[in-house]
Amino acid sequence: LRVSGHEQELHELRRDLFHRIAAHAKAGSSDFAPGAVHVDAATYVDPDRYAAEHRRLFRETPLVACLSSDLATPGAYRAFDDAGAPMIVLRDKDGVVRAFLNICPHRGARVVRDAEGTASRFTCRFHGWTFDTTGQAIGVPQEAHFCGQIDAQKHLIPCPAEERHGLVFVQATPNGKMDLDSHLGALGAELDLLDLDQARSVADTVIETSANWKYGLETFFESYHLTSLHKETLANNFAAGLYVYDSWGPHHRLVFPHRQIFDLVERPEAEWPIDTLGVNYFVFPNTMIFVGSLTPERSFVTLSQVYPRSVGRVDTRMTICAPRGVNSSEELAEVEGMLRAMREPVEQEDYAVTAEAWASLAYLPAGTKFAYGRAEIALQNFHRSIEQALRR
Ligand code: FES
Ligand SMILES: [Fe+2]
Repeated sequence: LRVSGHEQELHELRRDLFHRIAAHAKAGSSDFAPGAVHVDAATYVDPDRYAAEHRRLFRETPLVACLSSDLATPGAYRAFDDAGAPMIVLRDKDGVVRAFLNICPHRGARVVRDAEGTASRFTCRFHGWTFDTTGQAIGVPQEAHFCGQIDAQKHLIPCPAEERHGLVFVQATPNGKMDLDSHLGALGAELDLLDLDQARSVADTVIETSANWKYGLETFFESYHLTSLHKETLANNFAAGLYVYDSWGPHHRLVFPHRQIFDLVERPEAEWPIDTLGVNYFVFPNTMIFVGSLTPERSFVTLSQVYPRSVGRVDTRMTICAPRGVNSSEELAEVEGMLRAMREPVEQEDYAVTAEAWASLAYLPAGTKFAYGRAEIALQNFHRSIEQALRR
């Protein structure tokens, strides 16, 4: 294994965050927003609004498709349907990450039909057209029957894809361009500190929920609901209403410390478990990267990604990764157990509430606005960022 280049920088970042948390813990404060913000409740139920969000945020914005290590070798591929458009993401024979519409240019059949694998070529089962890992058609049965008229349109249709910070980003914009630098901004340098290129995904799970995608996602954005909704579960692990918040444009970082923080701040800094401080990144529009754990002892990396299916349906994919991979069946069991423990409160508590709300929101009188308080600072930024993206 390569020795990490960022352990010291990550340690220093966590130490700074720990100091900010300690100061808040002593003062009984948090990184509050300056005021409350109001958002029209129709944002969650209006089908036109949903269509605009889906187009702008899921088909014209870079999305995290997987970890770099999920495409470990040349020829490794994965189907990626979560943006709506069926796509294949792969590492070509020269090691370059690419994406294509998973739609045969002949007459539209699905080319790759399994979820993942390794191949040097892909053959469409309908009429047997075959493509290499750069998307070029390398075999068209009875090609002469097309009378030389398919040369420009016989290849797989590319979508933007790029490997960055140990993650694979794609954009469901056929023949389009993706500007990751301007999308990520200064968040990029911080993602580097996480050394995600060394992480390995170990297990994943999908939660299907009746809710607008924003409503589901927002349950990850505040700890205001901890002492009420999660009083028997997560409130035993995390300090309620105590967090530090930073944002980079539409992206943010939230740190919700473990309850032990209140004892720790009374002790000397040398005793602080700085290197296991949980840090939660939100990569707009739909991906949370949590580096941490339910308990302070050990850190995992968890990706939680929400994918809208319709205005009132959302899938949440949770992927748990070991920062350096797993090396034994005990480690594997531990990681899988952690994923189950993280899924349960989301499914049974957060998403029980979001499903109930979904069933009711359409009955609110027109013009109803929801208020997001000072502790809901991340939600305030989220709604502002969506408005800005839709205006562009
Ligand atoms: S649709 Fe794929 S080969 Fe005809
Ligand atoms: Fe929650």
